[in-house]
Amino acid sequence: MAVFSLTVGIFSGLCILSTALLRWNQVRHRKKRLPPGTMGWPVLGETNEFLKQGPAFMRNKRTRHGSFFKSHIFGCPTIISMDPELNRYILVNESKGLVPGYPQSMLDILGKCNIAAVHGGTHKYMRGALLALISPTMIKDQLLPKIDDFMRSHISKWDNKIIDIQQKTKEMAFLSSLRQIASVESVSISQEFMPDFFKLVLGTLSLPINLPNTNYYLSIQARKNITILLRKLVEERIASGETHHDMLDYLIYSEKNKYKLNDEEMIDLIITILYSGYETVSTTSMMAIKYLHDHPKALEKLRKEHAEIRKKKRPEDPIDYDDYKSMCFTRAVIYETSRLAAIVNGILRKTTKDMEINGYVIPKGWRIYVYTRENNYDPCLYADPHAFNPWRWLEKGLENQNYSFIFGGGTRQCPGKEFGLAEISTFLHYFVTRYKWEEVGGNKLMKFPRVEAPNGLHIRVSTQ
Ligand code: HEM
Repeated sequence: MAVFSLTVGIFSGLCILSTALLRWNQVRHRKKRLPPGTMGWPVLGETNEFLKQGPAFMRNKRTRHGSFFKSHIFGCPTIISMDPELNRYILVNESKGLVPGYPQSMLDILGKCNIAAVHGGTHKYMRGALLALISPTMIKDQLLPKIDDFMRSHISKWDNKIIDIQQKTKEMAFLSSLRQIASVESVSISQEFMPDFFKLVLGTLSLPINLPNTNYYLSIQARKNITILLRKLVEERIASGETHHDMLDYLIYSEKNKYKLNDEEMIDLIITILYSGYETVSTTSMMAIKYLHDHPKALEKLRKEHAEIRKKKRPEDPIDYDDYKSMCFTRAVIYETSRLAAIVNGILRKTTKDMEINGYVIPKGWRIYVYTRENNYDPCLYADPHAFNPWRWLEKGLENQNYSFIFGGGTRQCPGKEFGLAEISTFLHYFVTRYKWEEVGGNKLMKFPRVEAPNGLHIRVSTQ
């Protein structure tokens, strides 16, 4: 009886304490003119609920509080915006004080000169330096020939094999970018570089706890190794006196490039290029293969587009810039894949001062999560939104989608868009013209918190 009374007592005490803590946290944040919403537990906020429920968490909150509400996730008071118009407003107004709000772990690992970490004039300069490397002229003359050569060899030995297309597209995205950075050295350094790079990626979305064996710790170590490797690469390239028409050349030899970067900026820019184009390009490519497999009509139309291009060429002829630009249906397939798979869930900003948005006052230092995922499935923006329908992009005009944030928006809109599209399009070109494929059963796909196949996405490939 005494034990029973004690248990009831402890249980009641915990209930009262929990209610008091939740209430206290709510009252603490009840400043005037904040958007509606709940803040959850002190420190922990509602992170656990968000990670457990995934996209349903956001949808439930929207039902209760509308499309602009407050919460507390990943250690920060956060405003979640699910309204397409407001999302656009937030993305185009960096100059009013809405700067990138990526987690500290990401900034520590990608370096203090990486584009997402810098603002104002420094951002403009670093972005200019990057754009000079991946401009349309560079894509046409320098990047596309290398992409073509790489993709041919990357997919060349897949006939009659069962492959994990997730693994292959990850390697593809990393190695293709590495080839652009250091054309001749990429083959010899890739084996040493790749494991460290994969560790680095894992740590960018981890808690910044620097204890042995945490993802964050391993990622920081991986960054150190990568920095040593890149410094050596630069020194050896300079010492050799050779020129190779690759990104390293443009970064080292300032007469080729009006943007002059010091060693630290150069290394952070190289890591940014590898990192930014890695998960986006690999996952979009994998999901395009998945959707094309499941939608034979779209695959047939895509094959036709690429067969037309091949018809005009000898087998050894590479695809050129005009070919790439003519791939309208391919581009529509890539956009539709990014939309439906929600490769990018959202974009993070933070306020640099108290700011009035949508009639509310958002305090300085709060995060704003421009949560674009649900816009992708909004029936007012996309008819029958859960269907894979690349044709919808051709009907409206490929670039005429005001509320599509697949590549972000405003001054931070993805500078690597055309480079990434050229890589995915070239991969699809060689893959669909050479092979047919079927899925080997048992592949599981997760769409949240990131799009991935936890056990791989296995397909049986054979020559057409
Ligand atoms: C399908 C492929 C890609 C997708 C879906 C994608 C998506 C995005 C999105 C949504 C943003 C906006 C982030 C923000 O506003 O905070 C962004 C920015 C960025 N992307 Fe991409 N990206 C892709 C490929 C690439 C590639 C290949 C590169 C390589 C150079 C790249 C480099 C960057 C950089 C450096 C930024 C930051 C720009 C800035 O802050 O000014 N992206 N990307």
